[in-house]
Amino acid sequence: MNATAHRPVSNPTALPAWGALQALANQGLPHLRDLLANPDQRPAPVAADGTGIRLDFARQAVNSAVMSQLLALAQQAGVAQQRDAMFAGAHINTTEDRAVLHVALRGAPDTVGPWGAAVHADVQSELARVCAFADALRGGQLKGHTGETLTDVVNIGIGGSDLGPRMATEALGHLAAPSAGTPDVTVHYVSNPDAWALHSVLRRLNPARTLVVVSSKTFTTQETLTNAASARRWLADGGIATEHQGKHLVAITASPQRSAAAGYLPEHTFTFWDWVGGRYSVWSALGLPLALAIGSTAFREFLAGGHAMDEHFRTAPPASNLPVLLGLLGVWNRNFLGCPTQLLSTYPSRLARFAPFVQQMDMESNGKRTHLDGTACDVATGPIVWGGLGIDGQHAYFQLLHQGQHRVPVEFVGVESEDVALADLPFAAEHHRVVNLNLRAQAEALAKGRGEADTLASLLASGLTESQAQALVAHRSFPGNVPNSTLWVDALTPSRLGALIALYEHKVFVQAAIWGINAYDQWGVELGKTMAQAMEKATA
Ligand code: F6P
Repeated sequence: MNATAHRPVSNPTALPAWGALQALANQGLPHLRDLLANPDQRPAPVAADGTGIRLDFARQAVNSAVMSQLLALAQQAGVAQQRDAMFAGAHINTTEDRAVLHVALRGAPDTVGPWGAAVHADVQSELARVCAFADALRGGQLKGHTGETLTDVVNIGIGGSDLGPRMATEALGHLAAPSAGTPDVTVHYVSNPDAWALHSVLRRLNPARTLVVVSSKTFTTQETLTNAASARRWLADGGIATEHQGKHLVAITASPQRSAAAGYLPEHTFTFWDWVGGRYSVWSALGLPLALAIGSTAFREFLAGGHAMDEHFRTAPPASNLPVLLGLLGVWNRNFLGCPTQLLSTYPSRLARFAPFVQQMDMESNGKRTHLDGTACDVATGPIVWGGLGIDGQHAYFQLLHQGQHRVPVEFVGVESEDVALADLPFAAEHHRVVNLNLRAQAEALAKGRGEADTLASLLASGLTESQAQALVAHRSFPGNVPNSTLWVDALTPSRLGALIALYEHKVFVQAAIWGINAYDQWGVELGKTMAQAMEKATA
Protein backbone atom coordinates (compact mmCIF):
# COMPACT_ATOMS: atom_id res chain seq x y z
CA MET A 1 0.00 0.00 0.00
CA ASN A 2 1.34 3.46 -0.76
CA ALA A 3 0.11 7.04 -0.71
CA THR A 4 -1.05 7.04 -4.30
CA ALA A 5 -3.19 3.90 -3.92
CA HIS A 6 -6.47 5.74 -3.45
CA ARG A 7 -5.72 8.56 -5.88
CA PRO A 8 -4.44 7.75 -9.36
CA VAL A 9 -3.76 11.39 -10.28
CA SER A 10 -1.75 13.52 -7.86
CA ASN A 11 -2.55 16.88 -9.41
CA PRO A 12 -5.31 18.47 -7.28
CA THR A 13 -6.51 20.74 -10.11
CA ALA A 14 -8.29 17.69 -11.53
CA LEU A 15 -10.56 17.59 -8.45
CA PRO A 16 -14.01 19.23 -8.83
CA ALA A 17 -13.64 21.26 -5.64
CA TRP A 18 -10.45 22.84 -6.97
CA GLY A 19 -12.35 24.34 -9.89
CA ALA A 20 -15.15 25.48 -7.60
CA LEU A 21 -12.66 27.19 -5.30
CA GLN A 22 -10.98 28.87 -8.25
CA ALA A 23 -14.35 30.23 -9.35
CA LEU A 24 -15.08 31.55 -5.86
CA ALA A 25 -11.66 33.19 -5.72
CA ASN A 26 -12.24 34.78 -9.13
CA GLN A 27 -15.55 36.23 -7.94
CA GLY A 28 -13.71 37.80 -5.02
CA LEU A 29 -14.80 38.18 -1.44
CA PRO A 30 -15.83 41.27 0.51
CA HIS A 31 -13.16 43.01 2.60
CA LEU A 32 -12.56 41.27 5.93
CA ARG A 33 -13.97 44.35 7.64
CA ASP A 34 -17.28 43.68 5.90
CA LEU A 35 -17.12 39.93 6.37
CA LEU A 36 -16.61 40.44 10.10
CA ALA A 37 -19.57 42.81 10.19
CA ASN A 38 -21.85 40.27 8.48
CA PRO A 39 -21.89 37.04 10.46
CA ASP A 40 -24.51 35.56 8.11
CA GLN A 41 -21.84 35.36 5.38
CA ARG A 42 -19.38 33.56 7.62
CA PRO A 43 -18.88 29.86 7.97
CA ALA A 44 -20.48 28.62 11.15
CA PRO A 45 -18.63 28.25 13.42
CA VAL A 46 -15.40 30.23 12.88
CA ALA A 47 -13.54 28.44 15.64
CA ALA A 48 -12.71 24.86 16.58
CA ASP A 49 -11.38 23.27 19.76
CA GLY A 50 -9.35 20.22 20.62
CA THR A 51 -6.74 19.09 23.16
CA GLY A 52 -6.79 22.42 24.99
CA ILE A 53 -6.16 24.43 21.82
CA ARG A 54 -8.68 26.73 20.16
CA LEU A 55 -8.33 27.74 16.51
CA ASP A 56 -10.06 31.08 15.94
CA PHE A 57 -10.29 31.63 12.19
CA ALA A 58 -12.88 34.42 12.18
CA ARG A 59 -10.34 36.69 10.49
CA GLN A 60 -9.62 34.41 7.56
CA ALA A 61 -10.91 35.63 4.19
CA VAL A 62 -13.43 32.84 3.77
CA ASN A 63 -17.20 32.67 3.59
CA SER A 64 -19.39 29.62 4.02
CA ALA A 65 -19.22 28.70 0.31
CA VAL A 66 -15.42 28.70 0.41
CA MET A 67 -15.32 26.63 3.59
CA SER A 68 -17.66 24.03 2.22
CA GLN A 69 -15.59 23.68 -0.97
CA LEU A 70 -12.36 23.46 1.05
CA LEU A 71 -13.88 20.61 3.05
CA ALA A 72 -14.97 18.99 -0.22
CA LEU A 73 -11.40 19.35 -1.49
CA ALA A 74 -10.09 17.47 1.56
CA GLN A 75 -12.64 14.74 0.97
CA GLN A 76 -11.94 14.46 -2.79
CA ALA A 77 -8.18 14.43 -2.22
CA GLY A 78 -8.61 11.52 0.16
CA VAL A 79 -6.99 13.22 3.14
CA ALA A 80 -8.66 10.82 5.58
CA GLN A 81 -7.55 7.74 3.62
CA GLN A 82 -4.00 9.07 3.35
CA ARG A 83 -4.00 9.82 7.09
CA ASP A 84 -5.13 6.29 7.88
CA ALA A 85 -2.44 4.90 5.58
CA MET A 86 0.21 6.88 7.48
CA PHE A 87 -1.01 5.66 10.88
CA ALA A 88 -1.11 2.07 9.59
CA GLY A 89 2.54 2.21 8.56
CA ALA A 90 2.07 2.31 4.76
CA HIS A 91 5.19 3.41 2.92
CA ILE A 92 3.88 6.89 2.18
CA ASN A 93 7.46 8.16 1.81
CA THR A 94 7.51 6.68 -1.67
CA THR A 95 10.89 7.95 -2.88
CA GLU A 96 12.64 6.29 0.05
CA ASP A 97 10.17 3.40 0.34
CA ARG A 98 9.64 4.09 4.03
CA ALA A 99 6.79 4.27 6.51
CA VAL A 100 6.24 7.57 8.31
CA LEU A 101 5.49 6.68 11.90
CA HIS A 102 6.45 9.51 14.23
CA VAL A 103 2.88 9.12 15.53
CA ALA A 104 3.88 5.71 16.94
CA LEU A 105 6.57 7.37 19.08
CA ARG A 106 3.90 9.09 21.15
CA GLY A 107 1.39 6.25 21.12
CA ALA A 108 -0.35 5.31 24.36
CA PRO A 109 2.08 3.09 26.35
CA ASP A 110 -0.57 0.46 27.13
CA THR A 111 -2.33 0.27 23.77
CA VAL A 112 -0.95 -1.02 20.50
CA GLY A 113 -1.78 1.52 17.79
CA PRO A 114 -2.56 0.87 14.13
CA TRP A 115 1.18 0.59 13.44
CA GLY A 116 1.24 -2.82 15.13
CA ALA A 117 2.85 -4.69 18.00
CA ALA A 118 6.42 -4.84 16.70
CA VAL A 119 6.76 -1.07 16.33
CA HIS A 120 4.98 -0.55 19.66
CA ALA A 121 7.42 -2.84 21.48
CA ASP A 122 10.50 -1.19 19.94
CA VAL A 123 9.21 2.29 20.78
CA GLN A 124 8.30 1.50 24.38
CA SER A 125 11.55 -0.25 25.12
CA GLU A 126 13.73 2.60 23.79
CA LEU A 127 11.53 5.17 25.53
CA ALA A 128 12.04 3.33 28.82
CA ARG A 129 15.83 3.50 28.30
CA VAL A 130 15.64 7.23 27.53
CA CYS A 131 13.53 7.95 30.60
CA ALA A 132 15.72 5.84 32.90
CA PHE A 133 18.85 7.60 31.65
CA ALA A 134 17.27 11.04 32.06
CA ASP A 135 16.15 10.26 35.59
CA ALA A 136 19.55 8.83 36.53
CA LEU A 137 21.36 11.94 35.34
CA ARG A 138 18.87 14.32 36.90
CA GLY A 139 18.99 12.29 40.10
CA GLY A 140 22.77 12.72 40.33
CA GLN A 141 23.53 9.05 39.87
CA LEU A 142 25.53 9.48 36.66
CA LYS A 143 29.15 10.34 37.32
CA GLY A 144 31.94 11.26 35.00
CA HIS A 145 35.29 9.50 34.72
CA THR A 146 36.70 11.30 37.77
CA GLY A 147 33.63 10.51 39.90
CA GLU A 148 32.14 13.98 39.69
CA THR A 149 28.39 14.33 39.15
CA LEU A 150 27.39 15.27 35.60
CA THR A 151 25.68 18.65 35.59
CA ASP A 152 25.96 19.97 32.05
CA VAL A 153 24.77 18.40 28.83
CA VAL A 154 25.92 19.68 25.43
CA ASN A 155 23.73 18.49 22.58
CA ILE A 156 25.54 18.56 19.25
CA GLY A 157 23.23 18.20 16.26
CA ILE A 158 21.73 20.25 13.46
CA GLY A 159 18.37 20.64 11.69
CA GLY A 160 15.92 18.11 13.05
CA SER A 161 18.59 16.88 15.46
CA ASP A 162 18.64 20.28 17.14
CA LEU A 163 15.61 22.46 16.46
CA GLY A 164 12.91 20.36 18.17
CA PRO A 165 14.66 19.53 21.46
CA ARG A 166 16.16 23.03 21.63
CA MET A 167 12.82 24.75 21.05
CA ALA A 168 11.02 22.53 23.55
CA THR A 169 13.76 22.90 26.17
CA GLU A 170 13.38 26.65 25.95
CA ALA A 171 9.59 26.45 26.04
CA LEU A 172 9.50 24.16 29.07
CA GLY A 173 12.71 25.26 30.77
CA HIS A 174 10.80 26.36 33.88
CA LEU A 175 10.31 22.66 34.64
CA ALA A 176 14.05 22.12 34.86
CA ALA A 177 14.35 23.10 38.53
CA PRO A 178 16.01 20.26 40.45
CA SER A 179 14.39 18.62 43.43
CA ALA A 180 16.18 18.77 46.79
CA GLY A 181 19.52 17.03 46.83
CA THR A 182 19.79 16.57 43.08
CA PRO A 183 22.08 18.44 40.71
CA ASP A 184 21.01 21.48 38.75
CA VAL A 185 21.30 20.12 35.21
CA THR A 186 21.69 22.54 32.31
CA VAL A 187 21.25 21.44 28.70
CA HIS A 188 23.12 23.44 26.06
CA TYR A 189 22.72 23.18 22.30
CA VAL A 190 25.33 23.63 19.59
CA SER A 191 24.43 23.26 15.92
CA ASN A 192 26.65 25.58 13.92
CA PRO A 193 30.18 24.39 13.08
CA ASP A 194 31.54 27.91 13.38
CA ALA A 195 34.14 27.47 16.14
CA TRP A 196 32.65 30.26 18.20
CA ALA A 197 29.35 28.40 18.55
CA LEU A 198 31.05 25.47 20.27
CA HIS A 199 33.66 27.47 22.14
CA SER A 200 31.16 29.92 23.59
CA VAL A 201 29.37 27.01 25.26
CA LEU A 202 32.35 24.86 26.28
CA ARG A 203 34.46 27.68 27.71
CA ARG A 204 32.10 27.98 30.68
CA LEU A 205 31.97 24.23 31.39
CA ASN A 206 34.05 21.76 33.36
CA PRO A 207 34.86 18.65 31.24
CA ALA A 208 34.71 16.43 34.34
CA ARG A 209 31.06 17.36 34.84
CA THR A 210 29.98 17.47 31.19
CA LEU A 211 28.07 14.99 29.05
CA VAL A 212 28.41 15.48 25.27
CA VAL A 213 25.38 14.17 23.36
CA VAL A 214 25.91 13.69 19.64
CA SER A 215 22.53 13.66 17.92
CA SER A 216 22.50 12.62 14.29
CA LYS A 217 20.07 10.32 12.54
CA THR A 218 22.63 9.40 9.90
CA PHE A 219 25.80 9.96 11.94
CA THR A 220 27.35 11.33 8.74
CA THR A 221 26.43 15.03 8.93
CA GLN A 222 29.64 16.98 8.45
CA GLU A 223 28.70 19.93 10.67
CA THR A 224 27.79 17.64 13.56
CA LEU A 225 30.81 15.35 13.22
CA THR A 226 33.09 18.41 13.11
CA ASN A 227 31.64 19.74 16.36
CA ALA A 228 31.67 16.26 17.95
CA ALA A 229 35.35 15.74 17.15
CA SER A 230 36.24 19.10 18.66
CA ALA A 231 34.16 18.43 21.77
CA ARG A 232 35.98 15.13 22.25
CA ARG A 233 39.28 16.92 21.87
CA TRP A 234 38.10 19.44 24.48
CA LEU A 235 37.34 16.55 26.85
CA ALA A 236 40.82 15.12 26.25
CA ASP A 237 42.48 18.51 26.74
CA GLY A 238 40.48 18.82 29.95
CA GLY A 239 41.90 15.61 31.40
CA ILE A 240 39.42 13.00 30.12
CA ALA A 241 41.64 10.89 27.86
CA THR A 242 40.05 9.28 24.81
CA GLU A 243 39.92 5.82 26.40
CA HIS A 244 38.03 7.25 29.41
CA GLN A 245 35.48 9.31 27.54
CA GLY A 246 32.69 6.70 27.44
CA LYS A 247 30.87 8.13 30.47
CA HIS A 248 31.00 11.61 28.94
CA LEU A 249 29.59 10.70 25.55
CA VAL A 250 26.15 9.75 24.28
CA ALA A 251 25.13 8.96 20.72
CA ILE A 252 21.55 9.30 19.47
CA THR A 253 21.20 7.87 16.00
CA ALA A 254 19.37 5.61 13.58
CA SER A 255 22.80 4.27 12.54
CA PRO A 256 24.20 2.75 15.76
CA GLN A 257 26.79 0.80 13.78
CA ARG A 258 28.37 4.12 12.75
CA SER A 259 28.38 5.52 16.28
CA ALA A 260 29.80 2.24 17.60
CA ALA A 261 32.61 2.45 15.06
CA ALA A 262 33.31 5.95 16.36
CA GLY A 263 33.70 4.60 19.89
CA TYR A 264 30.38 5.38 21.57
CA LEU A 265 29.40 2.77 24.19
CA PRO A 266 26.28 0.63 23.53
CA GLU A 267 24.79 1.59 26.92
CA HIS A 268 25.25 5.25 26.00
CA THR A 269 23.70 4.84 22.54
CA PHE A 270 20.02 5.54 21.94
CA THR A 271 18.39 4.64 18.69
CA PHE A 272 15.47 5.38 16.48
CA TRP A 273 14.40 4.11 13.10
CA ASP A 274 14.39 5.05 9.42
CA TRP A 275 10.63 5.66 9.64
CA VAL A 276 11.26 8.69 11.85
CA GLY A 277 12.05 11.77 9.77
CA GLY A 278 14.68 14.07 11.30
CA ARG A 279 12.27 17.00 11.55
CA TYR A 280 9.70 14.74 13.22
CA SER A 281 12.12 13.12 15.66
CA VAL A 282 11.72 15.11 18.89
CA TRP A 283 9.38 12.35 20.08
CA SER A 284 12.03 9.66 19.69
CA ALA A 285 15.30 9.04 21.53
CA LEU A 286 16.30 12.30 19.85
CA GLY A 287 14.20 13.91 22.58
CA LEU A 288 16.68 12.72 25.23
CA PRO A 289 18.19 16.22 25.70
CA LEU A 290 14.67 17.50 26.36
CA ALA A 291 14.02 14.66 28.82
CA LEU A 292 17.32 15.52 30.51
CA ALA A 293 16.16 19.13 30.81
CA ILE A 294 12.61 18.57 32.08
CA GLY A 295 12.63 15.03 33.53
CA SER A 296 10.92 11.86 32.34
CA THR A 297 7.49 12.63 33.82
CA ALA A 298 7.20 15.90 31.91
CA PHE A 299 8.68 14.26 28.81
CA ARG A 300 5.99 11.57 28.90
CA GLU A 301 3.36 14.30 29.34
CA PHE A 302 4.79 15.98 26.24
CA LEU A 303 4.39 12.71 24.30
CA ALA A 304 0.86 12.27 25.63
CA GLY A 305 -0.05 15.75 24.36
CA GLY A 306 1.17 14.80 20.89
CA HIS A 307 -0.87 11.61 21.09
CA ALA A 308 -3.99 13.55 22.12
CA MET A 309 -3.65 15.64 18.94
CA ASP A 310 -3.19 12.45 16.91
CA GLU A 311 -6.45 11.11 18.28
CA HIS A 312 -8.17 14.41 17.54
CA PHE A 313 -6.80 14.32 13.97
CA ARG A 314 -7.96 10.73 13.52
CA THR A 315 -11.44 11.12 14.95
CA ALA A 316 -12.73 14.71 14.83
CA PRO A 317 -15.02 15.52 11.88
CA PRO A 318 -13.20 17.55 9.20
CA ALA A 319 -15.23 20.71 9.89
CA SER A 320 -13.97 20.80 13.49
CA ASN A 321 -10.62 19.09 12.98
CA LEU A 322 -7.80 21.49 13.87
CA PRO A 323 -5.08 20.16 11.49
CA VAL A 324 -7.58 19.81 8.65
CA LEU A 325 -8.86 23.37 9.11
CA LEU A 326 -5.40 24.90 9.53
CA GLY A 327 -4.17 23.02 6.45
CA LEU A 328 -7.18 23.98 4.31
CA LEU A 329 -6.99 27.65 5.25
CA GLY A 330 -3.33 27.58 4.25
CA VAL A 331 -4.21 26.02 0.88
CA TRP A 332 -6.84 28.72 0.30
CA ASN A 333 -4.36 31.49 1.05
CA ARG A 334 -1.55 29.90 -0.95
CA ASN A 335 -3.34 28.60 -4.03
CA PHE A 336 -6.42 30.78 -4.40
CA LEU A 337 -5.51 34.11 -2.78
CA GLY A 338 -1.97 33.84 -4.15
CA CYS A 339 -0.06 34.51 -0.92
CA PRO A 340 3.43 33.00 -1.20
CA THR A 341 4.42 33.32 2.46
CA GLN A 342 2.97 32.37 5.83
CA LEU A 343 3.94 34.25 8.98
CA LEU A 344 3.92 32.39 12.29
CA SER A 345 3.81 34.84 15.15
CA THR A 346 4.10 33.51 18.69
CA TYR A 347 3.40 35.75 21.66
CA PRO A 348 4.71 33.83 24.73
CA SER A 349 8.44 34.52 24.89
CA ARG A 350 9.02 30.87 25.77
CA LEU A 351 7.92 30.04 22.22
CA ALA A 352 10.70 32.13 20.68
CA ARG A 353 12.04 29.17 18.74
CA PHE A 354 8.71 27.75 17.67
CA ALA A 355 8.62 29.51 14.29
CA PRO A 356 12.12 28.40 13.22
CA PHE A 357 11.21 24.87 14.28
CA VAL A 358 7.99 24.89 12.23
CA GLN A 359 9.86 26.55 9.38
CA GLN A 360 12.08 23.48 9.00
CA MET A 361 9.19 21.09 9.49
CA ASP A 362 7.06 22.79 6.86
CA MET A 363 9.58 23.97 4.27
CA GLU A 364 11.73 20.83 4.28
CA SER A 365 8.54 18.77 3.97
CA ASN A 366 6.44 20.67 1.46
CA GLY A 367 9.07 22.58 -0.47
CA LYS A 368 8.51 20.25 -3.43
CA ARG A 369 7.89 20.60 -7.16
CA THR A 370 7.04 17.00 -8.12
CA HIS A 371 3.83 15.13 -7.44
CA LEU A 372 3.79 11.63 -5.96
CA ASP A 373 3.18 10.20 -9.44
CA GLY A 374 6.31 11.90 -10.79
CA THR A 375 4.55 14.67 -12.71
CA ALA A 376 5.61 18.30 -12.29
CA CYS A 377 3.50 20.43 -9.96
CA ASP A 378 1.69 23.19 -11.77
CA VAL A 379 0.14 24.38 -8.52
CA ALA A 380 1.95 26.26 -5.79
CA THR A 381 3.08 23.99 -2.95
CA GLY A 382 4.69 24.82 0.41
CA PRO A 383 4.74 28.52 1.29
CA ILE A 384 7.72 30.38 2.67
CA VAL A 385 7.18 29.99 6.41
CA TRP A 386 8.79 32.64 8.55
CA GLY A 387 8.30 34.37 11.85
CA GLY A 388 9.23 34.60 15.49
CA LEU A 389 7.99 36.44 18.54
CA GLY A 390 5.03 38.64 17.64
CA ILE A 391 5.69 41.43 20.10
CA ASP A 392 9.21 41.92 18.76
CA GLY A 393 7.90 41.62 15.22
CA GLN A 394 5.45 44.44 15.88
CA HIS A 395 8.44 46.74 16.28
CA ALA A 396 10.22 45.36 13.22
CA TYR A 397 8.50 43.81 10.21
CA PHE A 398 4.83 44.36 11.09
CA GLN A 399 5.05 47.75 9.32
CA LEU A 400 5.26 45.84 6.04
CA LEU A 401 2.29 43.66 7.01
CA HIS A 402 0.17 46.74 7.68
CA GLN A 403 1.22 49.05 4.84
CA GLY A 404 3.60 47.19 2.52
CA GLN A 405 2.65 45.60 -0.78
CA HIS A 406 2.66 41.95 0.28
CA ARG A 407 -0.41 40.19 1.61
CA VAL A 408 1.03 37.97 4.34
CA PRO A 409 -1.37 35.60 6.12
CA VAL A 410 -0.58 35.28 9.81
CA GLU A 411 -0.97 32.49 12.33
CA PHE A 412 -0.82 33.95 15.82
CA VAL A 413 -0.13 31.71 18.80
CA GLY A 414 -1.12 32.89 22.27
CA VAL A 415 -1.49 31.34 25.70
CA GLU A 416 -4.67 32.05 27.58
CA SER A 417 -3.73 31.46 31.19
CA GLU A 418 -0.95 33.04 33.12
CA ASP A 419 2.27 31.14 33.50
CA VAL A 420 1.95 28.94 36.58
CA ALA A 421 5.71 29.11 37.07
CA LEU A 422 5.41 32.88 37.50
CA ALA A 423 2.43 32.86 39.85
CA ASP A 424 4.44 34.44 42.67
CA LEU A 425 5.80 37.29 40.56
CA PRO A 426 3.95 40.49 41.44
CA PHE A 427 4.09 41.81 37.88
CA ALA A 428 3.26 38.59 36.02
CA ALA A 429 -0.47 39.22 35.60
CA GLU A 430 0.08 42.68 34.17
CA HIS A 431 2.67 41.41 31.68
CA HIS A 432 0.37 38.59 30.61
CA ARG A 433 -2.43 41.10 30.01
CA VAL A 434 -0.19 43.35 27.90
CA VAL A 435 1.10 40.47 25.77
CA ASN A 436 -2.35 39.11 24.92
CA LEU A 437 -3.83 42.56 24.41
CA ASN A 438 -1.22 43.16 21.74
CA LEU A 439 -1.96 39.87 20.01
CA ARG A 440 -5.68 40.66 19.87
CA ALA A 441 -5.08 44.21 18.66
CA GLN A 442 -2.76 43.10 15.85
CA ALA A 443 -5.18 40.40 14.69
CA GLU A 444 -7.98 42.96 14.53
CA ALA A 445 -5.90 45.75 12.95
CA LEU A 446 -4.52 43.49 10.22
CA ALA A 447 -7.97 42.22 9.34
CA LYS A 448 -9.93 45.48 9.48
CA GLY A 449 -7.33 48.07 8.62
CA ARG A 450 -8.54 51.68 8.57
CA GLY A 451 -9.97 53.25 5.44
CA GLU A 452 -9.28 56.81 4.29
CA ALA A 453 -12.58 58.24 5.53
CA ASP A 454 -12.00 56.97 9.07
CA THR A 455 -8.39 58.06 8.95
CA LEU A 456 -9.37 61.56 7.86
CA ALA A 457 -11.94 61.79 10.63
CA SER A 458 -9.41 60.71 13.20
CA LEU A 459 -6.79 63.18 11.97
CA LEU A 460 -9.29 66.03 12.10
CA ALA A 461 -10.37 64.95 15.57
CA SER A 462 -6.75 65.15 16.67
CA GLY A 463 -6.74 68.87 15.85
CA LEU A 464 -5.19 68.98 12.36
CA THR A 465 -6.55 71.39 9.77
CA GLU A 466 -8.32 70.01 6.70
CA SER A 467 -5.25 70.54 4.48
CA GLN A 468 -2.87 69.05 7.04
CA ALA A 469 -5.14 66.03 7.39
CA GLN A 470 -5.51 65.59 3.62
CA ALA A 471 -1.72 65.63 3.20
CA LEU A 472 -1.37 62.77 5.65
CA VAL A 473 -4.41 60.66 5.01
CA ALA A 474 -2.85 58.21 2.52
CA HIS A 475 0.20 57.73 4.75
CA ARG A 476 -1.92 57.09 7.81
CA SER A 477 -4.47 54.68 6.29
CA PHE A 478 -4.30 50.89 6.50
CA PRO A 479 -5.63 48.64 3.76
CA GLY A 480 -6.25 45.74 6.16
CA ASN A 481 -7.80 42.59 4.69
CA VAL A 482 -4.83 40.53 5.95
CA PRO A 483 -6.12 37.04 6.69
CA ASN A 484 -5.13 35.71 10.08
CA SER A 485 -5.95 32.99 12.59
CA THR A 486 -5.14 32.69 16.26
CA LEU A 487 -4.28 29.48 18.05
CA TRP A 488 -5.11 29.96 21.71
CA VAL A 489 -3.39 27.37 23.90
CA ASP A 490 -4.99 27.16 27.34
CA ALA A 491 -1.64 26.85 29.18
CA LEU A 492 1.95 26.31 28.13
CA THR A 493 2.41 22.85 29.66
CA PRO A 494 4.41 19.89 28.28
CA SER A 495 1.18 18.28 27.12
CA ARG A 496 -0.05 21.37 25.29
CA LEU A 497 3.32 21.96 23.65
CA GLY A 498 3.21 18.36 22.43
CA ALA A 499 -0.27 18.93 21.01
CA LEU A 500 0.75 22.18 19.33
CA ILE A 501 3.73 20.56 17.59
CA ALA A 502 1.60 17.62 16.45
CA LEU A 503 -1.00 20.07 15.16
CA TYR A 504 1.60 21.63 12.87
CA GLU A 505 2.92 18.23 11.80
CA HIS A 506 -0.56 17.22 10.73
CA LYS A 507 -1.22 20.57 9.08
CA VAL A 508 1.82 19.90 6.89
CA PHE A 509 0.50 16.39 6.24
CA VAL A 510 -2.95 17.67 5.18
CA GLN A 511 -1.44 20.15 2.75
CA ALA A 512 0.89 17.55 1.22
CA ALA A 513 -2.07 15.17 0.90
CA ILE A 514 -4.00 17.82 -1.04
CA TRP A 515 -1.08 18.88 -3.21
CA GLY A 516 -0.26 15.23 -3.92
CA ILE A 517 3.40 15.52 -2.88
CA ASN A 518 5.71 13.52 -0.63
CA ALA A 519 6.28 15.52 2.55
CA TYR A 520 8.77 13.05 3.98
CA ASP A 521 11.84 13.10 1.77
CA GLN A 522 14.28 16.01 1.46
CA TRP A 523 16.34 15.43 -1.64
CA GLY A 524 16.69 19.18 -2.06
CA VAL A 525 19.26 19.38 0.72
CA GLU A 526 21.55 16.81 -0.88
CA LEU A 527 23.14 18.70 -3.78
CA GLY A 528 24.88 21.24 -1.57
CA LYS A 529 26.18 18.44 0.68
CA THR A 530 27.50 16.52 -2.33
CA MET A 531 29.23 19.61 -3.66
CA ALA A 532 30.81 20.35 -0.29
CA GLN A 533 32.23 16.80 -0.25
CA ALA A 534 33.51 17.18 -3.82
CA MET A 535 35.16 20.50 -2.97
CA GLU A 536 36.73 18.97 0.12
CA LYS A 537 38.23 16.13 -1.95
CA ALA A 538 39.44 18.56 -4.60
CA THR A 539 41.28 20.69 -2.05
CA ALA A 540 42.61 17.78 0.09
O1 F6P B 1 20.32 18.71 5.77
C1 F6P B 1 19.05 18.54 6.28
C2 F6P B 1 18.99 17.35 7.16
O2 F6P B 1 19.11 16.20 6.40
C3 F6P B 1 17.70 17.34 7.98
O3 F6P B 1 16.67 16.67 7.35
C4 F6P B 1 18.14 16.70 9.25
O4 F6P B 1 17.28 17.00 10.28
C5 F6P B 1 19.53 17.30 9.41
O5 F6P B 1 20.03 17.37 8.12
C6 F6P B 1 20.45 16.56 10.32
O6 F6P B 1 20.69 15.25 9.87
P1 F6P B 1 21.27 14.15 10.85
O7 F6P B 1 20.34 14.00 11.97
O8 F6P B 1 21.41 12.91 10.03
O9 F6P B 1 22.62 14.63 11.33
